[in-house]
Amino acid sequence: MRTGTGSMTFTQRDSLALFPTLVEVARLTDAHQLNEHIAKSLDSYFAGVRDGGGVASTDSPGATYDWTSAADLHVTDPVLTDLSAAFLALARHWVERNKLTVEDMVVTELWANLAAPGGTTYRHHHRGAYLAGVYYPIVNPLSGDLVLHDPRGSRAQIVPTGLYEPGHSFSLTPTAGTMVIFPAWLDHSVGQNRSREERVSIACNLVPLGFTGSPRAPRRPRVVIDGT
Ligand SMILES: [Fe+2]
Repeated sequence: MRTGTGSMTFTQRDSLALFPTLVEVARLTDAHQLNEHIAKSLDSYFAGVRDGGGVASTDSPGATYDWTSAADLHVTDPVLTDLSAAFLALARHWVERNKLTVEDMVVTELWANLAAPGGTTYRHHHRGAYLAGVYYPIVNPLSGDLVLHDPRGSRAQIVPTGLYEPGHSFSLTPTAGTMVIFPAWLDHSVGQNRSREERVSIACNLVPLGFTGSPRAPRRPRVVIDGT
C-alpha cells in the first residue's frame, strides 16, 4: 500500500517498538501464611544486626537504620525456599514473554530488607545478576514506592513538550503479596518511607544456568576472529 502526503510516498512503513523492558508484576495467591511467617521471622533474619544497635543509613539522613539480612535466606529458611520457587516461576514467565530461550534459572541470593521510617534506597541495579526480584509481605502504603527508572537516556535531552521524553520513572505502589521481576540492569530506587512503620521487602537475584556462574558455562569467551 502506498502511504504519505504530497508527492513523496512510502512503499513501506513500519513502526518498530525497539528495546522494550518487560517487568512482571504479580500477586501471590493465599499469601497470608507466608506473610505471617516472614513477619514473625524478622527478628531471626536480622539477628545480630538488631543486637548491634543498627547502622545509620547513608541513604537517608532521617532514617535511624536500614538493614540487609544475610543473602542465603532461601537456603536457611524452608518457607523462603518455597518463595524462591515462586520467584523462579515468575522469572520463567518473563523469559517466555521476551521470547527468549533459557534452559533453567537459579536464585543465587535471597535476602530481607528492613528500613526505618524516613529511609529511602538510592538508585541502583543488581550487578552480576540476570533478573532481580522483590516480594512485599507487609506494606504500609506510605512506606515508599518501588521506582523503576527509564533506561533510555538522559532527561537532559531537549524535546518538544508533550512528545517522547526519556528519563522518566515509573512508581509502583506494592500491596502485601506483590511480587515483581525485572531485568537486573534496570535502575531502581525506593521512595522515602513516610509511614511510622518499618518497610519490609524480600529481594533476590536470579541467574540462568549454563550461562553464568555454572560449571557448564564456557570457560573462554566465544570470540571468533575472521582472518580472511
Ligand atoms: Fe534493588
